[in-house]
Amino acid sequence: MKILILGSGGREYSIALAISNESEPHELFFMPGNGATNSLGTNLNIKDYNDLATFAKEKKIELTIVGPEAPLVDGVVNIFKDNGLTIFGPSKEAAHLEGSKVYMKNFLAKYNIPTAHYIETSSIEDAFKFTDTLSAPIVVKADGLCGGKGVIIAQNHDEAKIAISEMLSGKSFGDAGLKVIVEEFLDGYELSMFAVCDGDDYILLPAAQDHKRLLDNDEGPNTGGMGAYAPTPLVNEELYQKVKDRIIRPTLDGMKKEEAPFEGVLFIGVMVVNGEPITLEFNVRFGDPECEILMPLMTSSVSDMFYKAATNKLSEIKVEFSKDYAVGVVMASGNYPYKSSTPAEIILDDVHHEEIEKYTHISYAGVSQEDGVLYADGGRILVCIGTGNTIKQARDRAYLRCGQIHFAGKKIRSDIAYQAL
Ligand code: AMP
Ligand code: GLY
Repeated sequence: MKILILGSGGREYSIALAISNESEPHELFFMPGNGATNSLGTNLNIKDYNDLATFAKEKKIELTIVGPEAPLVDGVVNIFKDNGLTIFGPSKEAAHLEGSKVYMKNFLAKYNIPTAHYIETSSIEDAFKFTDTLSAPIVVKADGLCGGKGVIIAQNHDEAKIAISEMLSGKSFGDAGLKVIVEEFLDGYELSMFAVCDGDDYILLPAAQDHKRLLDNDEGPNTGGMGAYAPTPLVNEELYQKVKDRIIRPTLDGMKKEEAPFEGVLFIGVMVVNGEPITLEFNVRFGDPECEILMPLMTSSVSDMFYKAATNKLSEIKVEFSKDYAVGVVMASGNYPYKSSTPAEIILDDVHHEEIEKYTHISYAGVSQEDGVLYADGGRILVCIGTGNTIKQARDRAYLRCGQIHFAGKKIRSDIAYQAL
């Protein structure tokens, strides 16, 4: 197949790598891709979605896969479909589930899907009044997309009220904060669950855990994610079933009723409280670095799964997963998550160790390439993935691979998957 992938991160690289490893040959295009995706296909520079759709038609692209949320919220799926193209991802309307936390919370409430008790408002008085009914910590969220920074866990009522005032005045997040959610704090453990959906049916992938904080022991600032592993032993069949029955099925049915059928990846941020799954949030795309560890666990065709999902035929296929575990360790640059560092050459040791060669690989993200040399050129640079029969084995392998990659300022967490060990 001729496949176009939108995005430039490790997530998109890992999807492309999984597709490249399939027995059937494919031709891959990336918009924009990164300094390593051009070894798997062709990087493009066509920013306008209408122009991109024209290119896709001329090139006879058979499937487009959208990685990040921004093009989805901007309606790239609607534009491609209007042009008669096959594209995997939610419409602009369905992408509201991630684009607006107010929309998401009201949707959850309307369809009785478990979520934290909340208020959505643009009135400072109402927000303060509701805050006074909660006990600390208190969670304050900006409505719109804030690049992962729009959630404040306030340790006391004063802190919550400051966060509310700064959001509602536009000071902290501009227009994205002019409506806020104030909600109760849920005390439990967090999971990342992914359902590949075609509007009617879905396939639930093995549950993962992300590591959002920069430093070991979950300290330091929040990041996009510093590592992940799957499947997590913190989920049993009963919990999967509860997530299916209480969250995914009513969401797909509800979105159809809202005339925004959900096609694409439904990313459910789940908090498990006393054994019960509660929806923290929805995203409408794969998590990064979760995607990087889920792709290598898929033993059936990844491209076929996306194609069937994009053509409402998921019920026709059986998606299979390996019995292994995968652990991914993110390697970030020196100033992450505050700013990008100056480009630094990446030096990869030759791999002579059979175990490393067979059971580890790299998924590239913030890299550029010049004259065949790769440079660390971004925040999160790459992910080292190890697989194995146990989480410990997969993790040890991932860290072995990390030890063979060098660039100035490289930064990793040393405790990925600690929750499971
Ligand atoms: P969100 O973008 O809504 O997922 O929030 C970012 C992170 O904040 C989540 O991954 C959780 O770790 C945390 N969080 C969000 N809402 C709550 C809540 N109600 N209780 C506890 N932690 C929360
Ligand atoms: N790793 C979490 C996310 O992609 O939002």
